[in-house]
Amino acid sequence: MKLLYLGDVVGRPGRRGLDSLVPRLRAREGVQFVIANCENASGGKGIDPDNAEQLFDLGIDVLTSGNHIWRNPAIVPYMKDNARLLRPCNFPPGNPGAGWVVRAVRGSEVTVGVLNLIGRVFMGPADCPFQIAQAAIEEMRKQTHIIFVDMHGEATSEKVAMGRFLDGRVSAVVGSHTHIQTADETILPGGTAYLTDAGMCGPEDSVLGVKTEAVVRRFLSQMPARFDVASGPVLVQGALVDIDEATGRATSITRVRERVAA
Ligand code: FE2
Repeated sequence: MKLLYLGDVVGRPGRRGLDSLVPRLRAREGVQFVIANCENASGGKGIDPDNAEQLFDLGIDVLTSGNHIWRNPAIVPYMKDNARLLRPCNFPPGNPGAGWVVRAVRGSEVTVGVLNLIGRVFMGPADCPFQIAQAAIEEMRKQTHIIFVDMHGEATSEKVAMGRFLDGRVSAVVGSHTHIQTADETILPGGTAYLTDAGMCGPEDSVLGVKTEAVVRRFLSQMPARFDVASGPVLVQGALVDIDEATGRATSITRVRERVAA
């Protein structure tokens, strides 16, 4: 089966990019299951329920998130009723929502598990993503052997270590959070597809999706600055993963990097 993962969706431009690219990629690549990281989807930080619905309406099966997920308080009650929007599994126990979900592929008996983790290196405090992943995967494997992991983190070392740690136990480990796509896609020895960071779906003429001028001014002056989402052509970045349904092992991973005109 073919799975599409889309990196951090940044604001309205990112949502517009998905609007145009998701149906096209589905048709062109025969994609059967779509996952997107939505933690920057509303105004660049967090996501509101309307935007979550809009992304689900595009045919996205599961939304993952990260450190900005609680930015919009309206998402808390929404998450209680919508298991398809995940928050990192290693957030404190009792946080709203869930860190993993198993969903059926539309029109098929095949099921896909999605696990959302957050790193701890150069990030806020969280429980150990390695130990939490181990426990979650044990549970998920009772329901499916096709498992996709979104490792939301800053440090390349922590993400590579997670890929190697989970190799042979999940179908894919793909990173998010930095908004910069890495070029290290590979199939690890145990059959797990791996990419350190998928990149973002957001405005290309920017610093990580934010208007360049404000970011540069902040670096120069060290003064607080308001960060607004940039405009212009949109980069849609992510990864396509081919998975053997019989074994859950990945057979290929290809980076996605497409430009959508303004
Ligand atoms: Fe993040």
